[in-house]
Amino acid sequence: METLAMSALALGTMAAAWPAAAQRIALSRAKHRSLAGHSRMAKRVASLIPGYSYDEANFFAADDAPAEIVAHRRSGFADLCQLLGERHAKTIAMSDQARDYLPDMQFTGRYRVPFQFSPYLRSHLKLGSFVQSSSGVTLEDLDGQRFMDLTGSYGVNVFGYDFYKETIAEGIARVAELGPVLGTYHPVVLEVIKRLRVISGLDEVSFHMSGTEAVMQAVRVARYHSKRTHLVRFCGAYHGWWEDVQPGPGNPLPPRQTYTLQDLSERSLRVLETRRDIACVLINPLQALHPNMSAPGDSTLVDSSRRAGFDRAAYTAWLQKLRRICTERGIALIFDEVFLGFRLAPGGAQEYFGVQADLVTYGKTLGGGLPVGVVCGKREWMQRFDEKRPADLCFARGTFNALPQVAGAMLSFLERLETPQVQAIYTDLDKTWNDRAELMNKRLQQAGVPVRVTNMSTVWTVLYDTPSRYNWMFQFYLRAEGLLLSWVGSGRMIFSLNYSANDFEEVTDRFCRAAQAMRRDGWWWDGSQLSNKEIRRGIFREMWARRRG
Ligand SMILES: Cc1ncc(COP(=O)(O)O)c(C=O)c1O
Repeated sequence: METLAMSALALGTMAAAWPAAAQRIALSRAKHRSLAGHSRMAKRVASLIPGYSYDEANFFAADDAPAEIVAHRRSGFADLCQLLGERHAKTIAMSDQARDYLPDMQFTGRYRVPFQFSPYLRSHLKLGSFVQSSSGVTLEDLDGQRFMDLTGSYGVNVFGYDFYKETIAEGIARVAELGPVLGTYHPVVLEVIKRLRVISGLDEVSFHMSGTEAVMQAVRVARYHSKRTHLVRFCGAYHGWWEDVQPGPGNPLPPRQTYTLQDLSERSLRVLETRRDIACVLINPLQALHPNMSAPGDSTLVDSSRRAGFDRAAYTAWLQKLRRICTERGIALIFDEVFLGFRLAPGGAQEYFGVQADLVTYGKTLGGGLPVGVVCGKREWMQRFDEKRPADLCFARGTFNALPQVAGAMLSFLERLETPQVQAIYTDLDKTWNDRAELMNKRLQQAGVPVRVTNMSTVWTVLYDTPSRYNWMFQFYLRAEGLLLSWVGSGRMIFSLNYSANDFEEVTDRFCRAAQAMRRDGWWWDGSQLSNKEIRRGIFREMWARRRG
């Protein structure tokens, strides 16, 4: 009898435990199989990778190219070093002075290329990081050299730098009488709120100082109102540098109450449908360009396996499914439009994909050139107190929130957005930029170079057709042609919407010339029989050997 009772108890315990076990399994199955989908493991793997670098011989012949090719590479590299060194001498000298005191510059300089190549490259190919003026689509460095800007200033530059010079000046002038008074509001704030409510289709607006802060706030109110613990982000998505949204390498702390799920996956939908601890789902619509992958940077461009491609219909269908499930399950759907807001459409990604979120974060360009983060949300998610429990607050403040100068520049930005001239820029925007990408691909094909581009509107990525260990060199050939990329290199080129057809023609010419020069200098060596897989295996063997000393 006693045994029977115990078996019944054991069965009962198992039955109770089973849903939890099933949920755990469902969660594991909803992770993307890459390291980006397994942040703990990625951290462990990162800690095992040994530091080492190539000497001169390896730098030029990491793919075992024959002497003749290596000689081409050496002479091409020497020419590049000389050209950039002489043309940008003053800018390089100032960068050299600043580097030791600017950890940011040390970091970006180091991670422009795969780490094995970085020390030799840095000691020979000097780059400048200072600029002194902007105009049209160009930037000028301290040597008076003009670059066509493809950095997009981390996405802030949507309408061209001249536009932001105006919004900054006008915005600051609007509030000049008040100065930096905080805690009360300048009347421009009300005007900003009115416009953001219309654009977002949401009830309330809160102001912050950066995109990261806006995301923190959106997640915080979602946790507060849902009384649930976990946020869901999708594999590879960037949402700022706050711990909870940046699990894995890059963040000293392990992920806490964060689930990183596979993008565009039915298994992830099952998790959302069954778990009870999910407060919110964060969407960065830029992931539509490279689902489940981190932003493509040249520091990880060890071969030619970079893939990207935007399928608007598939991503729209995915967002619609997420919308439905979040509504059913009382989960807050958060669109993080800090990067893409106002780039795709005047109403942002919500308008572009036709999906209404519960909370939306904006930042970057919305500040009209000044730093900002904004959360727009439905009233039931935005409140920071509970009428029924007055001591249960959701505290969120920030000294500089709604700083008059930022609010002024924001209003100037939003007012310009309403003008027919700016609205006209959005007409056929996708078609314009898709046509331009197609044109560039045609020209690249005609030039016989193993390079292609792919895009999501004005955000572009360079892809490489034949296996190579040296694709990361391309960013420097582009620089030699006067095309400036951000430190992440050819993985991300951001065009501002003021690039005219002529400007674009010029970019295409320069881009093709850079690719031809790179090919001529032997970096894309036809004789190499290596596949991408073999390249990666070779690097793995090399790391393993280094680890074993
Ligand atoms: C989608 C997204 N969210 C949040 C952030 C963080 O914004 P900030 O750098 O202003 O903190 C970024 C920055 O690149 C972003 O792209």
